Amino acid sequence: MVTAAARILAPTPAENSGEVEGIRLEVGDVSHAFAFEGKPLPVLNHVSFSAAPGEFVALLGPSGCGKSTLLRLVAGLDHPNTGRVTADGADIGTPDPSRILVFQDPTLYPWRTVEANVSLGLEARGILKAERHRVAQALALVGLSGFESAYPRQLSGGMAQRVALARALVNEPRLLLLDEPLGKLDSLTRITMQGELLKLWQRARFTALLVTHDVEEALFLAERVIVFSDRPARIAADVKVDVPYPRHRGDPRLAELRHHLLHLLGLDETW
Ligand SMILES: Nc1ncnc2c1ncn2[C@@H]1O[C@H](COP(=O)(O)OP(=O)(O)O)[C@@H](O)[C@H]1O
Ligand SMILES: [Mg+2]
Repeated sequence: MVTAAARILAPTPAENSGEVEGIRLEVGDVSHAFAFEGKPLPVLNHVSFSAAPGEFVALLGPSGCGKSTLLRLVAGLDHPNTGRVTADGADIGTPDPSRILVFQDPTLYPWRTVEANVSLGLEARGILKAERHRVAQALALVGLSGFESAYPRQLSGGMAQRVALARALVNEPRLLLLDEPLGKLDSLTRITMQGELLKLWQRARFTALLVTHDVEEALFLAERVIVFSDRPARIAADVKVDVPYPRHRGDPRLAELRHHLLHLLGLDETW
């Protein structure tokens, strides 16, 4: 077990590979509601699951069912009405750089260069001077070496999302929370980035929680797919993707699992 202090002092994601240990995540009987027009709007309904250290879990469910809400609870940006969310057994109370959330929209600061955008987390923690080398390493990991001085307006959508990933990786997260991170990309860029995301995970070994509404993306990337019902989300199924990496998109077992997942989502007639 690498302690937090050791992790901050530890050299780099690349040199560290295999050393940074993913978080063990437990979501225990979590229910959550928002107030909407004076009435409670139930969003999560007795949701329980866990993710082992270093596991890649996809969360799949209909639009508006509560997936982003769940990620916000795990990130510590919100607190569940009932139930517990723990990281390595400790309650998640506040956001922490060991748990990083990446959104669909890369949300880069337009007036900052790529390098300055990626530096943000280290700057905020007051460790940029000592840890500046991590910025170059994170940019190398996402294939953006040479673009340090570019501005966001000079980047394609895929490159901007790579910057957002580098900005997360620079913190050496132990839990990476991905909220439809590839959702706005064109399909070719999306397929390329899925492969890159997989390599990043295999290299850095963080625990990954990926929200997606794309069944194929979930099956290409994740070791397990948790399927949610319509809002209020409850777990409809927890499906192991028993296909070793590297996966081939045309694998017949993946096609079988795709059919199964579409059925669980109530969409099998379209298959
Ligand atoms: N802060 C909020 N206040 C009130 N309602 C919210 C808030 N955040 C989300 N909701 C509602 O909760 C439901 C689930 O939202 P969300 O978690 O974003 O769904 P998903 O990510 O699965 O599409 C939606 O009906 C949404 O309108
Ligand atoms: Mg969402």
